[in-house]
Amino acid sequence: MRIDIVTIFPKMFSPVLNESIIRIAQAKGKVKFYLHDLRDYTPDKHRKVDDRVFGGGSGMLMRPEPLFNAVEAILSKTKKNKPKVILLSPQGKKLNQKICKAIAKEKQLVLLCGHYEGVDERIRKNLVDEEISIGDYVLTGGELAAMVLVDSVVRLLPGVLGDKNSLNFESFEGNLLEHPHYTRPANFRNMAVPEVLLSGDHKKIAAWRKEQALKRTKERRPDLLKKAALG
Ligand code: ADE
Repeated sequence: MRIDIVTIFPKMFSPVLNESIIRIAQAKGKVKFYLHDLRDYTPDKHRKVDDRVFGGGSGMLMRPEPLFNAVEAILSKTKKNKPKVILLSPQGKKLNQKICKAIAKEKQLVLLCGHYEGVDERIRKNLVDEEISIGDYVLTGGELAAMVLVDSVVRLLPGVLGDKNSLNFESFEGNLLEHPHYTRPANFRNMAVPEVLLSGDHKKIAAWRKEQALKRTKERRPDLLKKAALG
């Protein structure tokens, strides 16, 4: 996968992209990142990326020209694929595991990090394929949201995580949270691991895990359970 990120703060990304699984995914050749400073695509010498709102009102908006220029420059270099252009904004569709999986199937993403009071509506209508929010709260900009999206998508790319099962059995699969896990020691300060997990009876263990996953989901995320019943 190729991921182009358009931002006014490109330096924010290097600590995140160069650690842990994302760093390894790049080393394995599973993903390649291209960071673009939006100010390089401004037509004026002040490198201005924002402007006042027509009709009045407080705050500033992102101007259309730099974002259109940036996306067009990226597209002109990557004619083979039709990249998915995603705007990170609190007005977008709320990110979930299903959306991450769909995005992980793309060959190329262009992530646009919004700022200020938002973007000129023509960007939304004519440049962007999808608008994504990472939750019902407002960040100072789209950069952290872009990092969340990158992290959740890159780990799903084939060959990035060593153990395929770790993807099949994680939370949100089948709309359930994961069952509880334990590791050694079997008894830690008088807190014992449930007996069944030490029994070696794989059928019993599987049944216990299923029951615990249901119980946990019911207690913590009844909204997911409703989805599980429907699907
Ligand atoms: N930019 C500001 N807040 C955001 C959010 N919740 N999700 C995505 N982008 C944002």
